[in-house]
Amino acid sequence: MNNIDSITNLYTRKERSLLGGKQSRSDRERENKHILLSFANSIQERDIVTYDHSRRVATYAQRLARYAGWSRRDARDLALAALVHDLGKTWIANDILLKADTLSDEERKTMERHPLIGARILIGCDVHPFYVETVLYHHEAWDGRGYPSGLKGEEIPLSARILTVADVYDVLTSQRPYKAPLSKDAARERLLSGSGASFDPMIVRAFLSLLDSQAHFTLPQRLCAIPSTTKTTYHAASPVRL
Ligand SMILES: [Fe+2]
Repeated sequence: MNNIDSITNLYTRKERSLLGGKQSRSDRERENKHILLSFANSIQERDIVTYDHSRRVATYAQRLARYAGWSRRDARDLALAALVHDLGKTWIANDILLKADTLSDEERKTMERHPLIGARILIGCDVHPFYVETVLYHHEAWDGRGYPSGLKGEEIPLSARILTVADVYDVLTSQRPYKAPLSKDAARERLLSGSGASFDPMIVRAFLSLLDSQAHFTLPQRLCAIPSTTKTTYHAASPVRL
């Protein structure tokens, strides 16, 4: 049984046990929110760069969902999922997580386990499937070349497709130990060039409309948390480490 199968089975068992439970819907929602915010706090303790990134991604994802017609409540749920989308990174060793140089193949494979690790943690806490799916699939690609499952097109939950675009935009426009930030225009070009390959074209269109309609759309970075990168030149075509 592979990792995804075992997660799905565990998940089904949890769902069944929830159906027999006596908690009201609002109790469950409150509990979900409490659990997710606690995990967001744990990310803040472990890695302030990932925490700040997650807050910006949550804001972008929420704006995008509202722009796409989601209800206030659904968009808020997406923001909660976005806050913990990189939860699995809290279990990745610092020598990989904070490495300034390019990752080796083995290190990259370790990093690519973070959606699965995050989803497993959330399943263990009985949070709603919406959050688990969004975290598990936020690195899938529209053309099927993402991970961990290689889902394609609309097989990828819409919440994860929205999160992917918000996530990539923030990484592109952020300073990281291994790269300088791209300008808004350069990041815009990267999203456009990945439309239909990495990203859902409909989501890219919506995101770019939002981006173009607001002069101060890009959220400020907390640069003091990140060592300055003067040595690294970041080309618009370089691969993005998410
Ligand atoms: Fe991620």
